[in-house]
Amino acid sequence: MNGSEHIDTGVVKKLRQMCHLTTIKIKEVEDEDGVGSKIFDRLLKCLGTPPTVTTLRVNTLAADKHVVAKQLKSELEKQYNDRDLQAGETVAVYADLEGQCRKGLKEEYRERKIYVGCGVMQLSRDQMFCSAQAPSLDDVLPELLFAQNLPSIVCCMVLDPQPGETVIDMCASPGGKTNHIATLMNNEGRVVALDKTAMKVEKVTNNLARWNLTCVDAYTFDSTKCSDENADISGTPPYPPGSFDRVLLDVPCSALGQRPSARNRMTLKSLQSYSTYQRRFIEAGVKLLKPGGTLVYSTCTITMEENEHQVAWMLDKYPDLQLDEQHPHLGDTGRPCKGLTATQLSLLQRYDPTSDTSQSKYFTDNDTIGFFIAKFVKKKEMDS
Ligand SMILES: C[S@@+](CC[C@H](N)C(=O)[O-])C[C@H]1O[C@@H](n2cnc3c(N)ncnc32)[C@H](O)[C@@H]1O
Repeated sequence: MNGSEHIDTGVVKKLRQMCHLTTIKIKEVEDEDGVGSKIFDRLLKCLGTPPTVTTLRVNTLAADKHVVAKQLKSELEKQYNDRDLQAGETVAVYADLEGQCRKGLKEEYRERKIYVGCGVMQLSRDQMFCSAQAPSLDDVLPELLFAQNLPSIVCCMVLDPQPGETVIDMCASPGGKTNHIATLMNNEGRVVALDKTAMKVEKVTNNLARWNLTCVDAYTFDSTKCSDENADISGTPPYPPGSFDRVLLDVPCSALGQRPSARNRMTLKSLQSYSTYQRRFIEAGVKLLKPGGTLVYSTCTITMEENEHQVAWMLDKYPDLQLDEQHPHLGDTGRPCKGLTATQLSLLQRYDPTSDTSQSKYFTDNDTIGFFIAKFVKKKEMDS
């Protein structure tokens, strides 16, 4: 099947508009061989399908990763062994009188049913109910494993929070990165996690409770207002400027890097509105950062307006911020952008679902969601 067949025409139109917003201006890059169209088709195909690689993060505070890998293998093998009904086997056939029986149910169906007779399986259970041969990871070792996209994992490693530090995750829900930050800090120090609604914050606290991570204070709060000269660092937000060693700004974005994405109802106007909204989080985050501290800005989208352009704007507006090297750096570098030098672009990390990673000097198995990471350090006064 052609990749673009996965996506409805609304998305195709939106992506064309989005490409105009970014510097992949189709007409400009299109040559006689239709290179632009090829890039565009590849983008549609990638966004319409999930990444081929699934990444799982291990709870390194609770277990050794090699031990967990063995446990996971045996859990997954159980699922394969469970697929026991084969074509040709004789089975009892019942009619469900309540119409409540779920497709593929494995336990005995206990509602009203009537015996119809004996039948012979024409397909195996596996062929009937599993479209792909991949086992399910739902509820597999939830206290030890966290299914998380590779760039999201890299993002917190780049932030590099240390035990004992004070860190703020300004857009925390559902809490995958908050959980990772607390784990990297060995559950020592203080992490403040904010999100704007109580329901979203509940997701964060549930995620933390599963791994017994207690160094996080999660609050329902509008992060764009979380810096205040008269506030106190010890309790609830807001907080005084210069309070945090590290700030994570995983901001709300157009999420055009998310995969698979079969439908998108966003209007062009709302797509264009993200960068202005994101700057409000940036303004609050930069204020909260201590001199000498680290700020990571990230999005799961591919538009330059929300990525490289934001970095150029930040460097221009805040002379005390400078880009820093990222470790690990598994994605591409930033896209050429007015206001950023080649050296600055090389410090940015972009995961582009369309990039041909077979030639990448960084990583050859780079089939991930679209993602962007920029790491800044705030100069100490004596540095300036
Ligand atoms: C990209 S998601 C964060 C994902 C999260 N960091 C993770 O890894 O699980 C952005 C989040 O920002 C939150 N958000 C949007 N506006 C906000 C505001 N004014 N204050 C705080 N959080 C906000 C959204 O509710 C959403 O959960």
